[in-house]
Amino acid sequence: TLSPIDKAKYAAARRAAELVEDGMRVGLGTGSTAAWLVRCLGEKVRDEGLRIRGVPTSTRTAALARDVGLNVIGLDEARWLDITIDGADEFDGDLNLIKGGGGALLQEKIVAAASDMMVVIADAGKEVETLGAFPLPIEVIPFGWQTTQALVEETLISLDVLGRNTSLRMNGASPFVTDEGNYILDLHLNRIGNPRQLALVINQMPGVVENGLFIDICDMVCIGFGDGRVEMRD
Ligand code: A5P
Repeated sequence: TLSPIDKAKYAAARRAAELVEDGMRVGLGTGSTAAWLVRCLGEKVRDEGLRIRGVPTSTRTAALARDVGLNVIGLDEARWLDITIDGADEFDGDLNLIKGGGGALLQEKIVAAASDMMVVIADAGKEVETLGAFPLPIEVIPFGWQTTQALVEETLISLDVLGRNTSLRMNGASPFVTDEGNYILDLHLNRIGNPRQLALVINQMPGVVENGLFIDICDMVCIGFGDGRVEMRD
């Protein structure tokens, strides 16, 4: 038996899986909600003979996708995707997102940007009025990461952005390392007044590879509830 939150994630994933049609190239997100989607697609391939090719956004998702029998290809082979379905850490009323809680934001953003349509699947608890209660992940090159961290903090001070604390994401005693071999700084802002501007400013800094703000990328959110209901937002 599933907990209410897992029921909500599963319901959202199941509904989104219905958007996937025969012959599509599908971007496969990362995280616990996206894992439900991958399992649902595996079932459809097995039970309905759905023929799709999946482009995973992490080594974790790639392993799961192969496990459930999906045909896995790389983004360079796919070039362009019909749809990407992924989870999110937060979404707001404009369907802007914070992603990267699972550390896969870089591949997730590249894949989402290469898709005709990006659909987010999330439990209702992920909806926020203003983004930022969830710390914003910033992927940085390991070389000189403390210099990059200082640059991020100083720039935010000069922009008058409150709560400028960043922390290096850890994996036990060592830094968490992304699939691309980078580190993650989590930026604690509480609220992000102008996400579009912040995303641009952060990405201009040397050492920064990408940040977890997804602005104007998501086209639709499938919101799952604990009782199995799903609400679509677009
Ligand atoms: C992975 O890097 C993230 O962007 C995930 O999409 C996000 O953390 C959502 O994960 P859950 O579905 O596990 O909440």
